[in-house]
Amino acid sequence: MKKCGLAAAIAAIFGMVAPPAADAAESVSVLHWWTSGGESKAVRVLKDDMEKQGYGWKDFAVAGGGGAAAMTALKTQVISGNAPSAAQIKGPLIQDWASQSVLANIDKVAADWKANLPPTLDTQMKADGHYVGVPFSIHRINWLWINKADLDKVGGKPPTTWPEFFALADKFRAAGITPVAHGGQPWQDMTIWETVVLSQGADFYRKALVDLDQQTLTSPQMVQVFDIVRRIHGYLGSGYQARDWNVATGMVLSGSGGMQFMGDWAKGEFANANKKADVDYICAPAPGTSNAYTYSVDSFVFFQERGAKDATPGQLAMAKTIMSVDFQQDFSLYKGSIPVRLNVPMDKFDTCAKKSYADEIATIKSSGFVPSLEFGMVQSAATEGAITDAVTKFMNSNEDSAQGVKALAAAAKVR
Ligand code: GAL
Repeated sequence: MKKCGLAAAIAAIFGMVAPPAADAAESVSVLHWWTSGGESKAVRVLKDDMEKQGYGWKDFAVAGGGGAAAMTALKTQVISGNAPSAAQIKGPLIQDWASQSVLANIDKVAADWKANLPPTLDTQMKADGHYVGVPFSIHRINWLWINKADLDKVGGKPPTTWPEFFALADKFRAAGITPVAHGGQPWQDMTIWETVVLSQGADFYRKALVDLDQQTLTSPQMVQVFDIVRRIHGYLGSGYQARDWNVATGMVLSGSGGMQFMGDWAKGEFANANKKADVDYICAPAPGTSNAYTYSVDSFVFFQERGAKDATPGQLAMAKTIMSVDFQQDFSLYKGSIPVRLNVPMDKFDTCAKKSYADEIATIKSSGFVPSLEFGMVQSAATEGAITDAVTKFMNSNEDSAQGVKALAAAAKVR
């Protein structure tokens, strides 16, 4: 990590606290999991910006979409006394890390954040009333990405209901196209499942995955959710096990795959390949979810340098940069997301991002804006992990829906 050289060692031996470095030569070490084509371009915007401001950048990119591998690496680094300067952490995990008293205070650069963030997201960035996290952008999870040429070829239209979806999937199959491009990793399985839960309505989703209400979790409607997921599973084609998400997106990009359920970081891959929304591909809310929005907000937290509670100049510069209007725009253009900061001009964005933004505003008003379970926005890591295990086991076995529901209900009790 940083410069814990001789001075820090002497300070530690004599019980002194070394002051945080104030020179512009400070180098920030950054742990994240943005390694695909689109993701790397997006994070590069931050690296370049920091270097322009005179700070060094040490990259700790941990491959693995969804971030599970990155979180394991982070724990190892912190336990061995090598915490990075900044790490990609989101949702309730921010509070967990803050409760260990290892996060630095970034209040100094956050004076105007409350006025510029949706209230729930602003709250999530704070611990004990102080800012410890900075948000990048909002990703919408409940998208269906469709190859436009494939769609035209089979004479289909974006499906708005499950029957329409299965009819289109059949057409794709008949045309020799893999209907649903997917990678059988737990978090990708969960992306499909969580989206099907949302298709039963935002209230149902909230009761099931936010409130963990046992009656909802064991309802006939939840049995239906598992039925639909089982049916989707029949359209994944072969070779999907352990396929990375961006490889699956690549299938939709090339047309060998017809559709993909994925958060809008998939759009970063399309953009990276110079593919255009509405021309080369279509973004449509997944069937039954046009009035709802599962969100995921990526954020960074900053680890205390040598026990100093306040962030270093480099950490503050990074937090300030991330929340600046220009960065919010440039980052999301590469990432496929929309700015989390309110009132950032949207004129440079494509139709998918504009739709995401309009739907964000509309669903916040209609209570259809709900936190993604799988992307760490709402439950503890233990609960999320137990539910993920139950769903993945269902998808990769011959369990029937009743068994899936039973396992889900038990998993939801894990805290
Ligand atoms: C999510 C993250 C996204 C995207 C995705 C795939 O957890 O929020 O920004 O990177 O993983 O890697």
